[in-house]
Amino acid sequence: MAVTPPAKRIWWNEPIEKVELYWIFIALLWGLFMFFFMIAWHFIGQQNLSTETYRIDPAAYQAKVETFAEGNTVREEDGVPVVRPQSGNDVYLLGRLWQWWPILELERGRSYRFHLSSIDWQHGFSLQPTNINIQVHPGYEHILTLTPTETGEFGIICNEYCGIGHHQMTGRIYVVERPQGAAPAAAGR
Ligand code: CUA
Repeated sequence: MAVTPPAKRIWWNEPIEKVELYWIFIALLWGLFMFFFMIAWHFIGQQNLSTETYRIDPAAYQAKVETFAEGNTVREEDGVPVVRPQSGNDVYLLGRLWQWWPILELERGRSYRFHLSSIDWQHGFSLQPTNINIQVHPGYEHILTLTPTETGEFGIICNEYCGIGHHQMTGRIYVVERPQGAAPAAAGR
């Protein structure tokens, strides 16, 4: 509210200064540029992966991951199963307060359908040291095609603040060479 009332009561119906119009036009162009750049960056930035996304009940997702882990666990590390798919190319990972579960062991050069969801809270899947970031919500199952190109140990951290244990929320993915003589796996889809 102005301290003194405007001299002209119909102040909002005055003709607009040309300079002001220029600025409004520049702001509009910039806004449009930024909007379309978000879309372009999806393709040229190579940071956000295209995923298929489905609605799923968090409990149902947890059950799927547990079934996957039960049938494919090859060993345990610190009480966490290390899971390596024996057949098929579907792998499942869940985020929860405050852990990525289970540990996955994948083969280099094989294409996987990588399923990802949270069963409680919003988490951020960040694969280290690669530049892969996926926001993970309960109730949504993301599926992306993942083909590891390097062997080694990859860490997963949570990059979406999720409470007191956020900074300890980690996970692991191992990538190993495909066993000698193994038939080439069908391309994931
Ligand atoms: Cu999960 Cu931060």
